[in-house]
Amino acid sequence: MSAAAPLLSVNGLTKHFPLKGGFFGRSTGTVRAVDGISFDVAEGETLGIVGESGCGKSTTARLLVDLIRPDGGEIMLSARRLGVDLPLRDLRRNVQMVFQDSYASLNPRLTMEEAIAFGPTVNGVSTAEATRLAHELLFKVGLEPKRFAGRYPHELSGGQRQRVNIARALAFKPKIVILDEAVSALDKSVEAQVLNLLGDLKRELGLTYIFISHDLNVVRYMSDRVMVMYLGEIAEIGPVDAIYERPSHPYTRALLAAMPSMDPDHLTREAPLAGDPPNPINPPSGCRFHTRCRHAATVCISTPPGLYTLPGERHLVNCHLAIPNSGHPGIEAVTA
Ligand SMILES: Nc1ncnc2c1ncn2[C@@H]1O[C@H](COP(=O)(O)OP(=O)(O)O)[C@@H](O)[C@H]1O
Ligand SMILES: [Mg+2]
Repeated sequence: MSAAAPLLSVNGLTKHFPLKGGFFGRSTGTVRAVDGISFDVAEGETLGIVGESGCGKSTTARLLVDLIRPDGGEIMLSARRLGVDLPLRDLRRNVQMVFQDSYASLNPRLTMEEAIAFGPTVNGVSTAEATRLAHELLFKVGLEPKRFAGRYPHELSGGQRQRVNIARALAFKPKIVILDEAVSALDKSVEAQVLNLLGDLKRELGLTYIFISHDLNVVRYMSDRVMVMYLGEIAEIGPVDAIYERPSHPYTRALLAAMPSMDPDHLTREAPLAGDPPNPINPPSGCRFHTRCRHAATVCISTPPGLYTLPGERHLVNCHLAIPNSGHPGIEAVTA
């Protein structure tokens, strides 16, 4: 796998939302929702994305499925570049998304069979063939087609609706499915069933997942690699075990310290996070985490660290403490 190009590659991806609200709707600032992030996703892996609310997870996802347009950066699928040799329709078909709100993405006037068949018919598949596919997919997501094909969204439970939304995404035969808090609204037992279904579908269909959740336990269970975001940037990215057992960014350590069911042996001495993240309209200078970091030194206020690759691993950290000769005096000097 190492020699092949990554299935998905994102380079310098940026999305700034203009803030309107001044007189006559004049722009009063910019929300730097996603601010120049770069990462790869290998075929067949699950990349988890975590971070506090507002850090840019959903904006990243929406950029990848072309619900919104980036202000900068490039998106590549199997070494083809969007806008150059990758047509938009190829990206749209190959990257599908399932959202948190199981109701919002389903038309209340369409039966489940129609909802799943809709995408393929729009893409030129005959109604008969699309209906056959819809039944096949209902079966795949654990809903007996005879019982569920004719039902409307309000006749289903939240878990069943999410199964239909997964089937709808799969109807496009995508390579990548982005799950944006897709199980977060479900009861724990139903959530576990849908997570198992996602695991089965991934193995059966050779899918690649981007799994977004604020629930660090669920992300650990699902992911091969994990990306931690903070204020529109990547704080840390690496193999799941490296992130959970050897977290290098103080922000990651603080997130993990706040996890309810962490193994006490693994608890870091990091204090859990206090306060809300600062505003992405005016992110702090230097390292964006410095205003909440108890290891912050002068260099952290003045200079953004940038992602640094730790020796020997595919583990990258955006922190001066981890970077040799960064000018950071080190933990002892700061906390002593
Ligand atoms: N359409 C939009 N217009 C203006 N600001 C937006 C829009 N969408 C998201 N934002 C802002 O961008 C930031 C990142 O949001 P989002 O990507 O939804 O974060 P997350 O999914 O991690 O909670 C937030 O500050 C949010 O308020
Ligand atoms: Mg979100």
